[in-house]
Amino acid sequence: MSYRPVPLPRIEGAAFQGTHVPLIERYLDRLPFEAGDKLVSLQEGSTPLLRAPVLSDMVGATVRLKLEGANPTGSFKDRGMTCAVTAAVRDGAKAVICASTGNTAASAAAYAARAGITCAVIVPEGKIAQGKMAQTLMHGARVISLRGNFDQALALVRELTATNPIVLVNSINEYRIEGQKTAAFEIHEALDGGLEALCIPVGNGGNITSYWRGFREMGAAPRMLGFQAAGAAPLVEGHPIEHPETVASAIRIGNPVRWEDAMAAATDSRGAIRVVTDEEILEAYRLLAYREGMFCEPASAASVAGLLKYGAEGAEQIVCVLTGRGLKDPETAIANNDGRMITADVEIGAIEEAVLGDP
Ligand code: F0G
Repeated sequence: MSYRPVPLPRIEGAAFQGTHVPLIERYLDRLPFEAGDKLVSLQEGSTPLLRAPVLSDMVGATVRLKLEGANPTGSFKDRGMTCAVTAAVRDGAKAVICASTGNTAASAAAYAARAGITCAVIVPEGKIAQGKMAQTLMHGARVISLRGNFDQALALVRELTATNPIVLVNSINEYRIEGQKTAAFEIHEALDGGLEALCIPVGNGGNITSYWRGFREMGAAPRMLGFQAAGAAPLVEGHPIEHPETVASAIRIGNPVRWEDAMAAATDSRGAIRVVTDEEILEAYRLLAYREGMFCEPASAASVAGLLKYGAEGAEQIVCVLTGRGLKDPETAIANNDGRMITADVEIGAIEEAVLGDP
């Protein structure tokens, strides 16, 4: 039998080849860049939109998962980071910095490495999932482990960048929001404008702000249903949380910088921001992995936990955003799989029992 692969599209003369192009190129007319700008890209965006049959049955509607973990560093942050770092380099910056619960740090470090500039990150000590820390260190960032939380790290980064020539790449940076809005364009195109509700985890409030901006630019208005973890739900409680706590370390944030924008996205879209408990998050996290074959990080599962808890306000076309991949946080996975590991001696009877016996 002869081998005849389906040829991938080739774009004559383009620096990037493959199944998709960098999102800045794809949406150039909707982003603050010019043709010919030198891009700092790892070929981000164009992520899959996967049907979720089990979830669809459970909620009685068509549920799809936007797999943002398929981005180059494993989270949606790459959409904003390609824009923030491209702009920083264009404007002559030699260094970027962020505060982070892990994913922004990993993404900033990777794009800075690609651009050949310096990256520093300030992260809450002991609260960064291992995969994210591994990435950030490997990309050569200067990692400052703060004896404090994310909100304190962000306050320090803002203070530092006010007086030093370092570009801040948290979602206060407008280029981040601009880049992240492209995920809404992709969903809008894929569903021919048919989306009715978007379920999304909310931490600092940047991503829900971005999606709402993206949908508005497409002339669409699906409900934005945002979810915060119970121990870190300032937007639901209506005041900052001094000591936020949750198993979903990515959204362990007590004082979101995009507070007003996130609330406006929920209100203007006739959506809501609501709370899910750590138990509900872990339940959804396991359901996605066990039944849908999709391994995301705990914060991402908050979108699905919220959908299962509150429903989708009668929407029939629903997308849950899975913001980051499961491999980001191996500790939480290994601690929350109902004890699936069986230890056995080198003995066929024991192996037979372990493989074929009652689970
Ligand atoms: N999901 C994941 C996996 C995240 O890493 C984050 C934020 C969010 C959801 C929430 O998005 O902040 O725009 O509302 N992570 C940031 C970080 C804070 O530092 O990596 P948001």
